This record gives sequence, C-alpha cells and structure tokens, in this order.
Amino acid sequence: MRDRVLDFLSERGTLADERAVEYLLQQRDPLGFAAHLLQAFREPPLVITLEDIVDAGSIARAAAERGVLVSVPRAHPALMPPSVPASLRGTGVPASDIAEDVRILKDITGRSTCEGTLADFARYFRHRFHTLAKILRSRPELGGAMELAKAKRLTRDTAVIGMVSDLRTTKNGHRIVELEDDTDALSVLIPADSALAADPIVTDEVIGVTGHSNDRGLFIAKSIAHPDIPVAKAFPGTPEHIRVGFLSDVHVGSRTFLADRWEKFRAWASNGDEVARSLRYLVVSGDVVDGIGVYPRQDEELLLDDIYAQYEALASMLRELPDHLKVILLPGNHDAVRPAEPQPALPAPVQKLFDSNVTFVGNPCTLSLHGVRILAYHGRSMDDFVSSVPAMSYTRPLDAMREMLRKRHLAPIYGGKTPIAPESEDHLIVDAVPDIFVTGHVHAAAVGEHRGVVLVNSSTWQAQTTFQKMHNIEPMPARLPIVDLHTGEAMMKAF
Ligand SMILES: [Fe+2]
Ligand SMILES: [Fe+2]
Repeated sequence: MRDRVLDFLSERGTLADERAVEYLLQQRDPLGFAAHLLQAFREPPLVITLEDIVDAGSIARAAAERGVLVSVPRAHPALMPPSVPASLRGTGVPASDIAEDVRILKDITGRSTCEGTLADFARYFRHRFHTLAKILRSRPELGGAMELAKAKRLTRDTAVIGMVSDLRTTKNGHRIVELEDDTDALSVLIPADSALAADPIVTDEVIGVTGHSNDRGLFIAKSIAHPDIPVAKAFPGTPEHIRVGFLSDVHVGSRTFLADRWEKFRAWASNGDEVARSLRYLVVSGDVVDGIGVYPRQDEELLLDDIYAQYEALASMLRELPDHLKVILLPGNHDAVRPAEPQPALPAPVQKLFDSNVTFVGNPCTLSLHGVRILAYHGRSMDDFVSSVPAMSYTRPLDAMREMLRKRHLAPIYGGKTPIAPESEDHLIVDAVPDIFVTGHVHAAAVGEHRGVVLVNSSTWQAQTTFQKMHNIEPMPARLPIVDLHTGEAMMKAF
C-alpha cells in the first residue's frame, strides 16, 4: 500500500514526507483520503508534511463553518484536525470538588537491594526469563514448550521459549536469532521470505518460537510469539469526568527551556477553560530539570548551573499552579538520582524544596488514580529501540511503546544507552496490564492505543537541543496530553 500511495502522489506531481505517509497509511482508505487531501490544496506543496494535512483539515473545517463551499471540497472526515473528544467537552467536575485518590502500586524507592555484582546480574536475568516465559507458556501453542537442549535433538515440530542473546542477518537475507535458556543455546533461522522477518525482535527479550530443527542444527521458525498483553481490555472508567494532564522533559535550567510557553500553560491552568478547571492531576515523567554534567560541555547550554537552583526554579513554577492540581513527579536521565533503572525518587534534600502537593515516585512507577492504573516510565530505552530497529524513529514514540507492551518489558535491550540496575526482581517487566501507559524522553507528543491501553508521550518544554539538531529531529514542545478518566479519551492541548 505504501508504494501505491507514493505512486498515486507522484503521478499528481507531489511527494509526502515519512510522517505524512505514515498518517495516510493509518487511514481506512489511504488512496481515497489522499485524493480528498489533494483537492483541499489550491496547489499541492512539493512535499506534503503532516502539518500540511492538519492545515488542510483546518481550512476545510473553517470554510464549512462559515458556509463557504466554493472551491473547498467536502472534507474527508479524517481530514479534520484532531478534535476534542465528547467526554472532554463540558462534562468535567471542578477539580477542587474531587477528593484526592492516589495510590502508589509499584515503585523501587526505598526497596533497592542490588550491589551490581555478577551474581546480581545472573539472578536478575533469570528472574526476567522465568517471569516472561511463564506469560508465554499460557499461550496454547507454547504450553508444551521444551527446553532448548531437548528441542535441539528433535526434528519434528516443536515449541521453545528463550531469551534473545544475539541477532544477525546472513548474506542471503535470512535472520538468525540466537536463543538461550537455563539448559542450552539454539540458533533460530527466520527465512528471508517469511512474514516473520519484519518482526522487530531485539536482544534480551524473551520470545516463544514454533518450528523444527534441521539436520544442520538450525531451528527453522514457523511462528514467533511475544508475551504481549491480552487482546481486549475495557477502560475501567471513573464515575466522574476526572482529568489528568501529562508532561515531562521540562529541562528547567537549560537555555532552551521555553519559559514563555510555560507561562501560557500556567495562565491557562489558573484561569483557563472548563478542561483547565477540571484538571485534577499532573503526571510529570522525568527530565524535570536539565541537570549538571549529563553530557559533555553541557555547562555551555545552562542558564542555571547549580542543581539545587534548577530544582528551586521548578518548585516555584509548580507552586504557581492552582492548588487543586496534584503533581506526581518521577525522575529521568537528566535528574539528580542514579541513572540506572529502576531509578528511585528524587532525594530528600530536593523533595524538601517543593510544596506538599507534589508526590515523588521512582522511574518507572505504577500508580492508581481513582482506580485507573497508570504506568509511567521516562522512556530512556527508546534510544536503544531507535538504534536497534531500523523502522523506529524518535518522532514516532508510540511504535516503541507498543513494542514495550508486546515484549512486556520497558527496557529489554541490555548494554545500550539504558543502564539497568540488577535488582533481585526485574522492575522493568510490565507484569500487571496498565490502563494508561505514559513515557517522555524523546520530546515528541502523541496519544494512541494498544489493545485497549491508552498510550501517551508527553512532549517537552525545551526547544531543539544540540543532540536533536545533529540528528535532524524536530521536537514537539509545549503540548499537554490530557486524558479523561471516565472514558480514557485523550486530547492534546498546545501552548
Ligand atoms: Fe528530555
Ligand atoms: Fe530523557
């Protein structure tokens, strides 16, 4: 379909960039949508961007509202700019009328036991393997999965479960996945022409494979299973329309912190519309300050070069928000805690700078707001997903988030950019299924869904960084994703 869409556009003298193509491909009828889109332009741009698509929708909608029909065709329903869902229009309860209901369900803070010895790592990976293997074993096709040592000796069809220790592609385009369990190692071959070849498998995840061993000791894969989450899940839904805002990557202290955009957010939160008045919680998912010495020559990009000054500035920014807004704050890789994940909450001397309406938790953290289960994770592992899986990109964080849920692990790849502390249990496993899963880190902004779980990536309050400039990444700053806890519907507010 991708080729057909590209051909369709080029035959009409235009092209589309990657994000626009992805958007078109997500439509039920990509070619019909593209045809409507072209009609909405007086003259199609040389390269259509996602912003062009949104603008085309706005023009069509504005014209329709004014009753102007000349030269503007009827807009394709999906061409309309992302609108505010019904449950976020005029139904909110004033946040000041809602009693706080926050429960921290899972958090490493105060429970870290690891010393980082070799024995700790061995125990950590054994825990990861056995926990995820147990989930996989509940699948009918993997119920009788064999140990690798046994499966190797059989040539009939069988099933195995293993942790991926290595991945490579042969010169003929076949993929070799090296698996390990407690008994042995096994080389799995995914033929180049198999549909399985596109599966974004990564190292150190746990997968199930059905197939058979050939006479050369290779296990030829027929199917591959990831632990994933159950297919259908209903959103629990609070009785009232309680709203939660998600932000992250504020990077206070950086020269590129967007103070003017934050001020717009503050003004809206304090004196804004019905949604602002009903906003009861803010979940802040890490990189709340820019930190000190996080990357080489960072001092040149800092406005505040004292870590306490950075947190003090943030504390006074949060103090200016309305009292009815409860803040839950977790650290990221720029914050003043150990970088190894799971990260504990910010230390007591930092917490003391803040008012009591801020609750400090670790990264990741599972919490319940009025019974709605939220998994909040800063998202450092997205660096490793983007560098390991060619199809992934910093501008599409939901792809990596869906893979985290499929793999039931927030940071499966070990030895990349994400440092992992070998706790006695693997806290990065997604054991209980969340209702909302939020990440930050990549400075994008997105809302979506995977098997009934609401996905949120929570923007940034920092302009383009040096790293992003080098990699040609445009951030999407000053967006606030908001979820209505009655329905799970989301909207994106821009400042
Ligand atoms: Fe960040
Ligand atoms: Fe980050």
